[in-house]
Amino acid sequence: MFIALEGLDGCGKSTQLRALAQRLQQSKMDPVIVQEPGGTPVGEEIRHILLHREELKMAPLTELLLYEASRSELTETVIRPALASGRWVLTDRYSLSSVAYQGYGRGLDLRLVRELNRIATGGLDPQMTFLIDVPVEVALQRKGRARDRLEGSGVEFYERVRRGYLTEISRISGGVLLDGQKEIAALSEEVWGYIRPLVAAPS
Ligand SMILES: Nc1ncnc2c1ncn2[C@@H]1O[C@H](COP(=O)(O)OP(=O)(O)O)[C@@H](O)[C@H]1O
Ligand SMILES: [Mg+2]
Repeated sequence: MFIALEGLDGCGKSTQLRALAQRLQQSKMDPVIVQEPGGTPVGEEIRHILLHREELKMAPLTELLLYEASRSELTETVIRPALASGRWVLTDRYSLSSVAYQGYGRGLDLRLVRELNRIATGGLDPQMTFLIDVPVEVALQRKGRARDRLEGSGVEFYERVRRGYLTEISRISGGVLLDGQKEIAALSEEVWGYIRPLVAAPS
């Protein structure tokens, strides 16, 4: 299984990823856990440019291509080999992030974003994608004062991203919309409710 968590920064992706990984480990599984951008040596360098070098201005297409380059490396060198060896992969963000942020958020052509996603992933899509939806104010509040390139773009940008996520999640196969304002434990219970039936019963 290949599972992605999606949503605005601060919505609770990392929290739910940890909880799900723990549940899987308790079921004697050993999932591979990755994050985007990053997760490979070159991907981590790209992550640094994208998230920690605010002084570097770049055009939206450049930004998209950097995300796709990171995604391509991660897919080719980590995700595909892990899936091929029979392991589960949990990812903190994947292709849907580019559709939401670079497409709906930055205004790049959605067909272009989807096409580059397809090229970068070789057509690999998660079997399940959980969107943790929270209002923009809640996401920003939870993130505290942390600022990066994306957080410098204003609240309207995040509103577009959130709307994009909500539009897309109902259209993609295996998409699940979660109310991120529920309590952490209630949410992880809900996620587990979807995943537990997919975990093979011990023989
Ligand atoms: N359901 C929730 N309710 C309240 N606070 C939450 C919830 N989920 C996560 N948080 C808190 O919000 C902050 C951001 O969560 P995090 O998992 O790091 O989000 P993300 O990885 O999506 O940026 C953390 O301090 C976390 O403890
Ligand atoms: Mg996180």
